[in-house]
Order: sequence, then structure tokens, then C-alpha cells
Amino acid sequence: MLDRQQILTFLKSGDPASELTLWQWADRCRKEAVGNEVHIRALLEIGNVCQRNCHYCGLRKGNDTLQRYRMPLDEILEVAMKCNREGYGTLVMQAGEDPHWSSKDLAGVIRAIKSQTSMAITLSLGEQPFETLNAWKQAGANRYILRFETSDAELLQKIHPPFERHQSSFGQRLKTLQHLRELGYEVGSGFMVGIPGQTWSTLVDDLLLLKSLNLDMFGIGNFIPNSLTPLGKQARHLADPEQVPATPELAQRCIAIARLLSPKANIPATSAICITQQNGLLTALQRGANVYMRDCTPEKYRRHYSIYPGKSETTPLEFNQLVEMVQSIGRSISSGQGSSLHFKERTSL
Ligand code: 5AD
Ligand code: SF4
Repeated sequence: MLDRQQILTFLKSGDPASELTLWQWADRCRKEAVGNEVHIRALLEIGNVCQRNCHYCGLRKGNDTLQRYRMPLDEILEVAMKCNREGYGTLVMQAGEDPHWSSKDLAGVIRAIKSQTSMAITLSLGEQPFETLNAWKQAGANRYILRFETSDAELLQKIHPPFERHQSSFGQRLKTLQHLRELGYEVGSGFMVGIPGQTWSTLVDDLLLLKSLNLDMFGIGNFIPNSLTPLGKQARHLADPEQVPATPELAQRCIAIARLLSPKANIPATSAICITQQNGLLTALQRGANVYMRDCTPEKYRRHYSIYPGKSETTPLEFNQLVEMVQSIGRSISSGQGSSLHFKERTSL
């Protein structure tokens, strides 16, 4: 396995030959471990209401310029059925951290989708009480994504202030990831690259934490300053040599290293990379990634899901465009649910 020093060298190297070695190594590792299939998920952003005040995210409670929405349950079901008809194997339901969704209603929708389709359901709904996570699991949800954002507990405490009675943001995050694991979810987590205050050494720790948490899916994206947030205003003033740059190229190096650390995980080409780098989707797929989440949120809602600039303004690629792009690099689109091999192997008896 790669050690700290090797990871650091790959992360920091300005040498194109070293970079090429990393890309080729990660691509080969991906091919040998999980094959040539790319899993396309349907992403549905069911609401942008959030009770948290993260210093980097446009959905933060304190952003009063955002028009808030929660999709009605019947509309969620309707879009889910449409995604099923279009052939998606997985529906990802994402929202801000909103107690609204903890009620029984979402469990009912999950149950309805599961009984009427063969799609897997992934949830990305923030930190929720154990009972809620359990109710959703019982209703049929398969996977859950909760990024730890950074492995630096002090930094996280500052940029992701703890909620109400919780003491430690990082501790609470890890606890929720543990709950998800106990409940039998396929679990994903990840971090941002280039958060102001994130050092090279932290970035190595971020990657090693992904590995030590034994996760099934990794989401890694570059930080994109949002001027409507405290960190977006501050980002331009940083000149510390230890500060990690917030570039899609560095996020891709992290993806490549993550693939080498955990060959059987599912790793998406994240939207931050795809939005900020020309050809970001295809290059990420050639540097370790094997998943893409296509935004299927109805336009009238999608334009309000403004986590960072560029996100809600970008028109999603058409499905057949995606197929052509994926085929152009010698890969194919998977059929079926596309669970991570890491999960399948750790849960098979
Ligand atoms: N830039 C990049 N990614 C961001 N996220 C939130 N704000 C930003 C930003 N400004 C990511 C976080 C969060 C996910 C929903 O979006 O990692 O977990
Ligand atoms: Fe809310 Fe998540 Fe954004 Fe934090 S990162 S403000 S919890 S949506």
C-alpha cells in the first residue's frame, strides 16, 4: 500500500512524468478491480432547506438570498418513476440537512419506489438520528452518502459548526457513519480539496481516513468559493505555502490515489470537477473514477440548488450524449444497480 510519503509526492509533484504514472496506474487498477463499466446514477435534489450553517455551502441556513423548496412527495415519486423508465439503476435523493425529511413520509416514498421499480436508492440527507436512518433502511434504502469534508477535526469545527447539543462536528460525523454501517447501508463519504486552511498533510490524512473507515464509495471534489458564504469571501486572501490549492486537477490526483488505496470502491467523477474542468468527466473516468451522477432534478427546482457557482446553472448532459462520451473512451454504461464491489465483498457471507 502507498505510504504517507508516496502519497505526498504524488499529490505535490510538478513533474508531468510522475503525474502520468499516477493516472496510468490508477486507470489500470480501476480496470483490474472493477472493470470497464461506468455506473450512471439519477440524482434528484429533493429539497434545498438546511438547518446547518457550513461556511462553504450556498445552502447554509444563513444564506437568505436563496429561494427554498421541498419537493412534494408525489412529485418525488413521479420523477423516480420517470428515472426508472429511462433505465437508471440507482436513484440518489439528496437534500440539505432538514428534519422535515425525518418524518415517516419519506419512508413511504422509499417504500413505494422500491415496490414499483428495481432501482437501488441512495440517500444523501445529512446527519440524521439513528431512528430515522433505521426507518429509511427498513423502508428499503440501500446506500447513504455523508462526506466527512476534512479529517482535520479543528478545521471542521470551524467551517461546519456543530448543531445544537453536539460538541464535536467531527465526532458526530464519524458517529453517524458508524450508525450507517451498523444499519447495513452501503456507505459513502469523502472530502473537499482546497478548503481554506487545509494543508498538504491534512490532505494525506483525508485520503488515509477514507481507507481506514473501510468505506464503499468515495466522493472527492475541489472546493469552489461561493461568494454568498463566509469561506467564499475569505478564499482569495490566502497565500500560505502549506495551503492546498482548490483545483480540479488536484481533486483528480486524490481520486487516483483513492483508487489505489481501495481498488474495489465506487468513485464518482464529482460535479465540482466536471463543472470546473473542461473535459473533467472523461479525464476523471480515466484517472480512477467509475461513477457519474446525472442531475435529473426538474429545472424549476434545480436552479435553486446552488451549493456553489456553476452548479445550478449548468444544463445536465443528455443521457445519449453521456453514452457516446463514455463509449468514446472505450468504456460502457452498466445496467443494474451497480453496487460497489467493496460492499458486495464485505457483506457476502
Ligand atoms: N465547493 C465544493 N463542494 C462543496 N460542497 C459544499 N459546498 C461546496 C463548495 N463551496 C460539497 C460538500 C457537501 C456536498 C453536498 O457538497 O462536500 O458534502
Ligand atoms: Fe447544509 Fe450540507 Fe450545505 Fe452544510 S454542506 S450547509 S449541511 S447542505
